[in-house]
Amino acid sequence: MSKRMKISAPATVANLVCGFDILGLALEDPCDIMELECSDEPGLRIRHTDNYALPVVPELNVAGAALLALMEELQEPVGFDLTITKCIKPGSGLGSSAASSAGAVVAANKLLGGRFSGMDLVRFAMNGEKVASGVKHADNITPCIYGGVTLIRAIHPLDIVQLEAPPLHVTVIHPQIEVRTSDARQILRKEVQLKQAIRQWGNIAGLVAGFMKKDYDLISRSLEDVIIEPVRSILIPGFAEVKQRCIDAGALGGGISGSGPSIFMLNRDEETARKVEAIMKDVYEKIGIDYKTYVTKVNMEGVKEIRD
Ligand code: HSE
Repeated sequence: MSKRMKISAPATVANLVCGFDILGLALEDPCDIMELECSDEPGLRIRHTDNYALPVVPELNVAGAALLALMEELQEPVGFDLTITKCIKPGSGLGSSAASSAGAVVAANKLLGGRFSGMDLVRFAMNGEKVASGVKHADNITPCIYGGVTLIRAIHPLDIVQLEAPPLHVTVIHPQIEVRTSDARQILRKEVQLKQAIRQWGNIAGLVAGFMKKDYDLISRSLEDVIIEPVRSILIPGFAEVKQRCIDAGALGGGISGSGPSIFMLNRDEETARKVEAIMKDVYEKIGIDYKTYVTKVNMEGVKEIRD
């Protein structure tokens, strides 16, 4: 059995506009890097090489909580040393906590010879999401582990569907402001009007059908959220302008990435994705908020081993 595993864990876009808590996709860039090593000393020790000052006490660390859940189910003494180098900024809306949680359990499972199923790993990693936001949502973790575009039909019990999709170029802007997932969930209305629900169901079904049929126009029409976005977008200065101008420039559509503040747009080709990036930059230059952008594609592999 190998004693050390180095992996990359990708950023993810959760919700995909209308699929709150049930749809997500993995990105090729950015990715966290993690190294997990088996140790003769039982227990879990965590070290960060980045400057984010994240907790290293396993129970308080998202990767730690996920690994502890796996170790508990293993029911045999095991020791791990985990080193995390985060490139996905915490609080970006790009699935930073999911990358840590998913990366840790996938690496452990590889070291253990693949004892657990993908579904088990999602279940373990959801404990990390609980530490991060207070809620065990799986829409970042699932694409992070499986890659591609994923649907979480249910979490009790877990029911995961991997969706086919046409080639998609993704543009992301991360305005350097803080939106905590817990706050972005807190402000949501608890009741939905039937009229809105019907429109949302149509969009979710249309989006899934659009991915499966590789129908860009159907994808574009279905990228509409009448429930969450109108509330959350208030937290993101420039959101409405970014969205409208990017769609006018040829983007298929997009919206808030996860709980924000990042905004993403799906595009048919790289040329449009680059145009969209320029528009996003222009909006935030004018507003005067620092930002980081990514022009990337859908990551079809999810967490993967790095051999060096
Ligand atoms: N579905 C979650 C939310 C994702 O929107 O709150 C958080 O990244």
